[in-house]
Amino acid sequence: MSTKARIEDYIKDEKLRNTFSQVFDYTTVAAIHELAAKGFIDHLEHIISTGKEAHVYLAFDKAGKKRAVKIYKIETSNFRNLRKYIEGDPRFKNISSDRRDIICLWARKEYKNLEKLADAGVRVPLPYAFNQNVLVMEFIGNDAAAMPLKEDPITDFDFLYEFIIKEVAKMIYHAKLVHGDLSEYNILNFEGKPVIIDCGQAVTTAHPHAMEFFQRDIKNISSYLAKNGLKKSLEEIKQDIKKAR
Ligand SMILES: Nc1ncnc2c1ncn2[C@@H]1O[C@H](COP(=O)(O)OP(=O)(O)OP(=O)(O)O)[C@@H](O)[C@H]1O
Ligand SMILES: [Mg+2]
Repeated sequence: MSTKARIEDYIKDEKLRNTFSQVFDYTTVAAIHELAAKGFIDHLEHIISTGKEAHVYLAFDKAGKKRAVKIYKIETSNFRNLRKYIEGDPRFKNISSDRRDIICLWARKEYKNLEKLADAGVRVPLPYAFNQNVLVMEFIGNDAAAMPLKEDPITDFDFLYEFIIKEVAKMIYHAKLVHGDLSEYNILNFEGKPVIIDCGQAVTTAHPHAMEFFQRDIKNISSYLAKNGLKKSLEEIKQDIKKAR
């Protein structure tokens, strides 16, 4: 029996397999193969999202549990931008200049960030495993994946505001991380409760750009809420985060 990893073993549907093969190389298949050998993946069922930087799949593990599998594209257009979020992070030193190495570091960074955030009690998908550019995490959804607030708003904006304030306070004071891309696109509505996703770019509060990213996050949240009738000044939001500490 050949030990060569075959995508046919992990994606049954031919069309889905073709899409995969257009974007991902053999190393990605090998990474899935290794995750499968450890039981984290049985197969990829369908695509949830095809983004600029990553594709997210609904997958099943060997025990038949649903999982979200985020696979980072190696040829991502924002490749250079990624460095800004890695350099200056004390957790990642001697950063390679190789594209693939950086993308794999990015997947590892998202895994580590999710781990830290979950430990601090922030509602994020639980991370289960990573290998190369592949990240396996908790699937947020029931039959279908939960949608971002942008498409499926939580209409009780006072509740949403309180929730976000508490989550950001836990992020900053307990996990000591700044999300860096917090917006209605990266918060899912799961049964009326927010779940924060897309944590690859999160940086430690000691990072040289942490303050800049924090200000941007607050601004995004403030303008999203303002559009929906909840007016909060940036100063007010910052004070509320401090109080929620
Ligand atoms: N754990 C999860 N469970 C269910 N759905 C998820 C999960 N993680 C991501 N998704 C879905 O995939 C989409 C993209 O995920 P994410 O925001 O992490 O990737 P991205 O880096 O923003 O991709 P891009 O910016 O390239 O579009 C989300 O909007 C959501 O619909
Ligand atoms: Mg996103």
